[in-house]
Amino acid sequence: MENISEILYQKAKETRLNAYAPYSHYAVGAAIYTKSKKIYTGCNVENISFPCGTCAEAGAIAAMVAAGDNKIKAVLVVSDGKDLVYPCGACLQRIAEFGDNDTVIYLANMQEICKKHTLKDLLPYNFKEENIGK
Ligand code: THU
Repeated sequence: MENISEILYQKAKETRLNAYAPYSHYAVGAAIYTKSKKIYTGCNVENISFPCGTCAEAGAIAAMVAAGDNKIKAVLVVSDGKDLVYPCGACLQRIAEFGDNDTVIYLANMQEICKKHTLKDLLPYNFKEENIGK
């Protein structure tokens, strides 16, 4: 997984260059590695109607699902803020839909990959299908 993280880092940085963030000026890139050993990327896409904007992770997940893939092994998120970007709560729930407790989440800035977490670290509890089971 360690050299995969470097590939994810390069791909996420590359995709971040296409971020559409004219309102926040905060460009984010994400790259997903799947069980089928494929990589999907996304960037944030903002909108003048602010709630319509989407996160980089959501874009990468949409690309993965559109390609017929759906088991997330790792996600890398990169931005260039003062503090490291952590996926928002909604994106953690999106990752949980297609990942598991051991799904790895790498956090990076423009210089390096700074942190490695599991989904369980960042979202110890999440809303699951069992919750709506009879
Ligand atoms: N953003 C992401 O794309 N991913 C995150 O994990 C956190 C926030 C975006 C949404 C918005 O376009 C910008 O960052 C500022 O909130």
